[in-house]
Order: sequence, then C-alpha cells, then structure tokens
Amino acid sequence: MINSLLTHGSLAARDDMHLVTWPDSSLLQNCEIGAALTEALRQQAAHSLADCAFGCAPFGRVTVVPESDWLDGLTQKLAAALRGLCRKTACPHLVLDTSRWDMDDKKHRAIVISLLHNLFNLEYQVSDLGYKKPADRAVRLSHLTLWCLPHQEHALSALLTQTAACAKGMIAARRLADRPSEHCTPAFMVSDIVRQAEDYPQLRCDVLDENQIQQHGLGLLHAVGKGASNPPRLLVIHYDGCDEGPFGVYVGKGITFDTGGLWLKSGEGMYTMKYDMCGAANVFGLLVATAELKLPVRLVGVLALAENMPGPDAMRPGEIATSYSGLSVEINNTDAEGRLVLADAIAWAAALRKEQQPPHYIIDMATLTGAVVKALGYDITGLWSNDSALTRTLSTAAEHSGDSLWPMPLDARFAPQVESRIADICNTPTNNAAISTSAAWFLNRFCPAEIPWAHLDISGTALWREQGYSVASGRPVPLLIQHLLETGEVK
Ligand code: BES
Ligand code: MN
Ligand code: ZN
Repeated sequence: MINSLLTHGSLAARDDMHLVTWPDSSLLQNCEIGAALTEALRQQAAHSLADCAFGCAPFGRVTVVPESDWLDGLTQKLAAALRGLCRKTACPHLVLDTSRWDMDDKKHRAIVISLLHNLFNLEYQVSDLGYKKPADRAVRLSHLTLWCLPHQEHALSALLTQTAACAKGMIAARRLADRPSEHCTPAFMVSDIVRQAEDYPQLRCDVLDENQIQQHGLGLLHAVGKGASNPPRLLVIHYDGCDEGPFGVYVGKGITFDTGGLWLKSGEGMYTMKYDMCGAANVFGLLVATAELKLPVRLVGVLALAENMPGPDAMRPGEIATSYSGLSVEINNTDAEGRLVLADAIAWAAALRKEQQPPHYIIDMATLTGAVVKALGYDITGLWSNDSALTRTLSTAAEHSGDSLWPMPLDARFAPQVESRIADICNTPTNNAAISTSAAWFLNRFCPAEIPWAHLDISGTALWREQGYSVASGRPVPLLIQHLLETGEVK
C-alpha cells in the first residue's frame, strides 16, 4: 500500500522526501532550499525538467517540472516523467504540489486522475512476481503527500479515494497478466481469481470446466481450447453491490497464450502473447476496483479462458464449430481465436437474467487485433458499439479519466467481410481490409441488437511500453471505473 494524504499550509520537510513542484508555486518560493538553488531550478524549468538530488536540504530531492507539462493532458508527459523518476529513487516519500491545477476544470482533473493512477501503480513491479532475485537497495515509493490549496482539498480527496481503489484493481490485473503463460493457464487464472475474490463478500464466482463448456454448447470456446494440454474455462464473476436493479456485464478475452494455433505466428510475433489474456484480467481488475469502492451496482464479469496451441487436436483452418448462440462458424484462420471465445462469452452474457431481466449493457475488452495498433497506436483504445448512448457515455468517461478511446464505425457495410459459403459466418475476411472492424462486426453478430453493447480493442493500450520493454498497464480499468461513477445507469 502507498499511504496517501492531503495537506496544505506549511510543510515539515524531511530528507526522505522528494518534492515535485512547478516554477511559480508558492510552495517552492517558501520551501527553504535556498534562494540560489530555487532560482537555478526555476530557470532550467522554463524549458526542461529540473531535477536535483544533492544539496537540496531539507528535502532529499526536488524536481521542478515545466509549467506546460502540468497542463498537458494529451501526452501525459508529467506522468511518464514521474514514473521514471520514482522508479529509481532514494526517497520513499513523494510530495506532489497540486496547486497548479484547477479542480473545476475537467481537463485538469483528467491529468490528476491519470497521474495518481500512475503513482499508485508504482506499488507493483514485475520483479515482485518472484522470478527475479530482489535487488538489495531498491527504494519503493511508500508515501504520497499531495500539497494543495485549501479549496482543492475536497475534490482531491475524492480523486485519491477513486484512484487508490482503481489502482488496486489495475495491479490485481497486472499481476496476472505479467505472469508467464506456462504458469498463468486458464485453470491457474480461475484458482487465483477465486482465491482473491474471497477477500470481497460482494464477489461470487461460477466456473465451467472443459466438459461443461462442451455440454453447454460453447462450441467456439471449445474449438479454440481443444488443441492445448491446458484446457479452457469460462469464469463468471458476480459483483452484488446492491440487491436489485439493472446489471451490466463485462466480457474479457482470456487467451493465456496465443501461438496462432495451426496458423502459427512467427516467434517474434508470439513473444508478447502471454498478454493475450489482458481483457479477462482487466475485467477482474475492474470488479476488484468496484468492490474496493463498494459501488452500489450489480455487475457480472465473464472471462473466456483458453490457450491457442497447435497440435493433433487443434482446430484446423476450414473447421466449422457451432456457437452458444446457435450460429455456425467457419474457422478459416486459427489465429483469429479471440473473436471466437468472445462470441461465445458475449452470447452467454446476453442470456444472463436477473429478476427475468437481460443485461442493461455488455462491454467486452480484448487484445483482439494487431491492426488496431496500426490505426490508433499505443495510447488510444478502439471502440465499436451498437448503441450511440453507450458510445457517448464511454467517450465522456475517457475524456474525464485520461484513459482515452476513439469510436470506430460499425454497420452492415462490413457484413460481407465475414460471409461464409459453407457456414452462417466465417471468422476472418479473405481480403486485408478493415481487419479490426471486421472483427467487431463478427462480435456484433453474437449480441442481440436490443442489448447495448460496446467492444474495446485494447491491443495497443493493454501494455505500457517504456525503456524498451512492455508490461501490463491495467487499462481500461480507469476508464470503466470513471464510466460507472458517471453514468449511475447501473444503480
Ligand atoms: N492476439 C492477437 C492480436 C494481437 C496482435 C494483439 C499483436 C497484440 C499484438 C489476435 O489473436 C490475432 O492474432 N489477430 C490477428 C487477426 C487476423 C488473423 C485477422 C492479427 O491481428 O493479426
Ligand atoms: Mn491470434
Ligand atoms: Zn489472440
């Protein structure tokens, strides 16, 4: 846990504190580090980040970040810089000067929210998984103090609560996703999540094993999982923060390793494919965050878990499998496995009932296509939806949380992309056109039109890429928590 608190007025500086402030802050002017040093830092910060770890008593370290970086919600330079600075630090206590921000400004609030998510996420690093011997003298951030102006206190306090809980969910998801796939199998994910869910009385898990998957007619999940020695699972997690009212369902792609199957990927293309379960992990992370915040909503998570492996029993190009919805699918490309497991999970979600009522909405998230990275890059999640109101509320939540997405088109013009001569539908177009949208259209066929549905392609955003390596990011948990807080639809 990173302990956090809010303070204003005078600050009792100590040498284990790292002060991060802005050039014209009254805190910097009055902070006793000496007029000469203050002036030198201010001058440097006029054009670049000024960082000083020696001779800045009473602080252990002082960083003055250029004013423009505090106000830049797009590139999130401040968050990236602080993540780097705090990862290698001698000071376990960060004092963040929040006085530059206007808490009534939505853009400023989004900057604060994503910065706090970044900071709270520093609690976890991949080396914690135990595969690497711990470094002796590594200092971790353990305390975060926000130095604010009195009128900011109320708003900041709410954001601290929101982001600390959200980061807890993100870390739960990241810990699962970063684990190598020979350990993080479908069965491991189930047992680990079931164990963690016991900490929260509002969470309850139901599991289908490989036999039940077949018996219940989840033919696509079965087809994807049957080539692997680690069999598939469907994990359904109920969150009941209240006793009645509409419920929302979140569906996650949980391919614990994607080799491409018989349509084998190259070694290079396979390297990050342990992360092909990030959608499922992030659904769990969202439920953890919701439980931490004790939100008065009812949610269901549906995690489609399988390994996509080649082998004598693996699904073959041209194979036809029948989905839970009844549609038959020609599997022309075994590497388009994500949409197969999601299709069954979405159809399963759509058939869920509470008090005879279907889901109020279904939102799926998946590392579905490499092509979404070509279209939108690494910072923006792709959104496809059958419902303009859901598109609007998700877009607003993205703007307000700094966890960005961009709406993409979805209509019947893409239907020919998944037409099959031999089955109801096929899983990939034979041309190379609109790859991500064709996948979204495929999924759309498994969700009844009357249920608002959104698909988030997180291939670009599920990982944080920094200094030449990738780790799980926990996105889009911040966006979806913001969405739950804002819509109040699920109450
Ligand atoms: N898991 C991949 C998508 C992916 C690729 C995510 C790279 C992150 C980085 C997915 O299962 C896949 O293989 N998709 C294919 C789709 C194609 C066969 C239509 C792809 O993107 O190449
Ligand atoms: Mn694939
Ligand atoms: Zn995949």
